[in-house]
Amino acid sequence: MNVLVLYQSRSGHTRRAAEAIGEAARALKGEAVVKSVIEVGEADVARADVLFVGTWVQGLILFAVKPAGAELWVPALPPLGGKPVGVFCTYAFHPRGSLRALGAMLTGRGATVVGERAFHRSRPGAGAEAFVRGVLEAAQGVGA
Ligand SMILES: Cc1cc2nc3c(=O)[nH]c(=O)nc-3n(C[C@H](O)[C@H](O)[C@H](O)COP(=O)(O)O)c2cc1C
Repeated sequence: MNVLVLYQSRSGHTRRAAEAIGEAARALKGEAVVKSVIEVGEADVARADVLFVGTWVQGLILFAVKPAGAELWVPALPPLGGKPVGVFCTYAFHPRGSLRALGAMLTGRGATVVGERAFHRSRPGAGAEAFVRGVLEAAQGVGA
C-alpha cells in the first residue's frame, strides 16, 4: 500500500506531525512519501493508495478558527479522485471545526475522508501510529 502524506506548515510542527505519520505508515505498511502541499504533483497522487493531508490551525482561538491557508492550497492540489484520505492538523489551543472544514474541502476535490486527528503542537507525533492504523483499516473499505 503506497501512502502519501501532504502537509502545510509555517513553523515546523505540522511537518513533524506529517513525518511521524510517514514513519508510522512505513512501520505498518512499508511505503510512505512525505511532501509539502506545494511540492505535490499528479503522479504522486496517482501512485498513492491512501493520502494523509494536514495543516495548522489559524484563527482567534475561539472565533474564525480554520485550516490555515486551505482556501489557497486545496484548490491547487491535483484531483484526489476518490482516494481515501486521513485529515490532520496541529493546534495550540483547540482545533474547533478545522478538521471538519478541511475534510469538506478535500471531499470537494474528490477525496473520501476516512479519518481525522488533531495533534497538539507540543507533541506533534503523539498518537500518530493509532491514527495511521485506523485510516489504513478504513481505507480498505474504500477499495484502496
Ligand atoms: C497567526 C496564528 C494564528 C493561530 N491561531 C490559532 C488558533 O486560533 N487556535 C489554535 O489552537 N492555534 C492557533 N495557532 C497555533 C498554531 O496552529 C500551532 O502553533 C501550529 O502547530 C503551527 O503549525 P506549524 O508549526 O506547522 O506552522 C495560531 C498560530 C498562528 C501563527
